[in-house]
Amino acid sequence: MPPPASQARVVSVALTERAYDVHVGPGVRDRLGSVMPAGARRAAIITQEGVGWTVDSGLDQSVFTVADGEEAKSLAEVERLCRAMSRAGFTRSDVIVAVGGGVVTDLAGFVAAVYHRGIRYVSVATTLLAQVDAAIGGKTGVNLSEGKNLVGAFWQPAAVLCDTETLATLPVRELRSGQGELAKYHFLTGDDLDALGTDERIAAAVRIKAEVVAADEREGGRRAVLNYGHTLAHAIETVGRYDLRHGEAVAVGLVYAAEVALRLGRIDEARVDAHRRVVSGYGLPDRLPAALEDDELLALFGRDKKAVDGVTFVLDSDRGVEPVVGVPEEILREALAAIR
Ligand code: GLY
Repeated sequence: MPPPASQARVVSVALTERAYDVHVGPGVRDRLGSVMPAGARRAAIITQEGVGWTVDSGLDQSVFTVADGEEAKSLAEVERLCRAMSRAGFTRSDVIVAVGGGVVTDLAGFVAAVYHRGIRYVSVATTLLAQVDAAIGGKTGVNLSEGKNLVGAFWQPAAVLCDTETLATLPVRELRSGQGELAKYHFLTGDDLDALGTDERIAAAVRIKAEVVAADEREGGRRAVLNYGHTLAHAIETVGRYDLRHGEAVAVGLVYAAEVALRLGRIDEARVDAHRRVVSGYGLPDRLPAALEDDELLALFGRDKKAVDGVTFVLDSDRGVEPVVGVPEEILREALAAIR
C-alpha cells in the first residue's frame, strides 16, 4: 500500500514539457505503478546486486543487474545493457526503471538517453546521495579511465521516487556521503534546514535543487551553485590517497569555500562558523587529511571540469552563493592553511 499522502511530499521539477514529480517519503517505491509513463508496455528494471529493494512497476517487467560499485558506470556496461534490452525486445514505447543509488540512476538514465535514441525512465532512489542530488535534474552518464562522468547526456526522468524507508538499511558511510550533499543545501537559500526532520529536510533539498534545475537545466549559469564545496572535494577525490567518501570530501570543501569567501571579504567569521557548525552537526570532517600538499590541490583546482576560466569557485556572499572567476592563488593557499 502506498503511504498516506500526509507522510509523502511531492516536489515538481518545472521543465514545461519535460516536467516531472519527485515523491519523497517512506514507502513511496510502492507508487511506482502509478507513475509509469502513459502508454508504457514493459519495464526494464536496472539495479545492482547490493541494492536489495524490489519494485513492482505493474507492467510486464524484466530485471537487469549491473556490477556493484562505481565500476558499473562504464561504456562497456551501457553496451551490455543495450544489447540485453535489445535481445529482450525492448522498444521506444517501453520504460527503464533505475532502482538504486547514484551509480544506478546515472547509468540507467544514460542508457535511457541513448537506447533507441531515447526512451523514458523513472528512478527509484535508494540512497541519500541519489535522493538529494544524483537522481534529480537529468544529469546522466558514465566514467572513462580519464575521469568521472566524462560521457553523458541531460535526460530528464519521467518521475523520481525517493523512498526514505530505504535509508534505514544504508551503510553508515554511504549515509554520510549523502549528508555531505545535504549540508550543501543549508547554504544555497535562506531556508532553515536545521529546523526540519529528515524526510522534510530531504524534500527541502529536492525543492531547492528542482528550482535551480528549472531555472538552468543545462548548467549555463545558475546550476553551477549545486557544485558548492565541490572544487576542493573533486581535488581530494582525484588525489585519491584518502578513504574519504564523496560527501565527506564535499563537507571539507564547504568549509574551505567559506574560508576563501571570508578572505575575499564576501562573508564574515560568523558565517564561516555556521559552515563548520552544519558540517559538524552531520558528524562530517571539516579539515583536510594532513598529508595533502597545497601544490597538488592547487594544480587540480584548475583542472576541475566545472572551471570555466582559470580557477572558478562557487562562493557565498550576502547575495547568496554564486560562481566567482579568477580567485587569486594567495587566497586559495591561505584558506588551505585555515582548514589544516
Ligand atoms: N550534481 C550537480 C547537478 O546536478 O548539477
